[in-house]
Amino acid sequence: MKDVVNVGIVGFGTVGSGTARILLEQKSLLRKRTSTSVNLKWICDKDITSDRGFQVPEGILTTDIDQLMDDPELDILVELIGGIEPAKTFILQAIEKGKHVVTANKALLATHGFEIFEAASKKGVEVGFEASVGGGIPCIKALKEGLVANNVSTVLGIMNGTANYILTRMTMEGLAFDHVLKQAQELGYAEADPTYDVEGIDTAHKLAIMSTLAFGQRIGLDDIYTEGISKITPLDISFATELGYSIKLLAIGKKNSHESVDVRIHPTMIPKDHLLSQVNGAFNAVYFVGDSVGKVMLYGMGAGQMPTGSAIVADIVDIARDITRGCTGRVPALSQPFDSIGPPRIKPVESICCKYYFRFTVMDKPGVLSRISGILGEEEISINSVVQKGRASKASSVPIVMLTHEAQEGRVKKALKEIDSQDFILDETMIIRIEDMKALEES
Ligand code: HSE
Repeated sequence: MKDVVNVGIVGFGTVGSGTARILLEQKSLLRKRTSTSVNLKWICDKDITSDRGFQVPEGILTTDIDQLMDDPELDILVELIGGIEPAKTFILQAIEKGKHVVTANKALLATHGFEIFEAASKKGVEVGFEASVGGGIPCIKALKEGLVANNVSTVLGIMNGTANYILTRMTMEGLAFDHVLKQAQELGYAEADPTYDVEGIDTAHKLAIMSTLAFGQRIGLDDIYTEGISKITPLDISFATELGYSIKLLAIGKKNSHESVDVRIHPTMIPKDHLLSQVNGAFNAVYFVGDSVGKVMLYGMGAGQMPTGSAIVADIVDIARDITRGCTGRVPALSQPFDSIGPPRIKPVESICCKYYFRFTVMDKPGVLSRISGILGEEEISINSVVQKGRASKASSVPIVMLTHEAQEGRVKKALKEIDSQDFILDETMIIRIEDMKALEES
């Protein structure tokens, strides 16, 4: 049995520091759990002088990636620099040299993952990526191992803590999006450039990974319909609350009976009493429906130094256990052999059917409501209820909120284009999809 498994980290930022700390501080626990010594042999970063708040053993810090690549004793390269390059090159080089890889890089996996998984599969090395989705929540391991007996029909998730934090504060305190975002940035919860988080792109990276695993299809970022939360107003939140819903940036992955998959991310109105509605603040949750197990929800910290470090070290331990027993590749990276993963069969978003919330901004004058309902009727969109509060003064606008019965997205978009071209419409109509969850929870 191999008595030491050597690990090198590239990227000594927040997650790199958390990972290093766990490897150093939990050495004896990890030895018990792997029956070997998990040894942090290298840490590589451009900055090796800043204080990370803990003692780093002498001689392991380097600015030269080749020291890791050319070290024949290095078993596992942990990529924590993020972004596409040079992360992709480093990962492919490590694989080529026969090293196992662990990464948290969801943007890279969602855009170039199949190239990486194919290279690893050919070379017979492992790629661990638990930390790429849900931070410390073991949702990838759950899919690959705990739920392996199931046909998983649904993956739902609140997978971005920043967006969830903003929506939670907007809901609890009636605040505007821009106001909460600014405060979140001041407190360091949101990035200086929050685009990926608030426009759903970070969530789309994560859904691409989860839906590939769950459905056995090569689903990439471009396959996912994505809308963010930046247009949500306190008015929408207060209407949603009054109507019995909460608004969440929901990642939806649903496999239909014809094996086509519906993969989308958008603000979604979900019943206030659903478990996912209780996921507040910076917390994440991933919710699965499997044909044997039924519904399963995992909840926890989706980001942060130590929770993400926990997921990285879990992957290192998996690989170390395999190395010591000479059974590398026991659990395939994508839950089944790489060449058995099929092409994506994406259901176009125009063909989805759900209920809708529309908020029209209109001039308050006779005939407006009948014109709107006439256009909706032409597209076979049936109205469930209408709410108009108060009366506008002559010059100002008034919001009209309508909830529909189930309608087809393509027809909804056509109708709204027509409605928004009317002269009594004073602003772009707000549309939020409503999921009562029953259809999504069918296995
Ligand atoms: N930026 C992400 C979030 C965390 O706000 O949840 C890293 O995936």
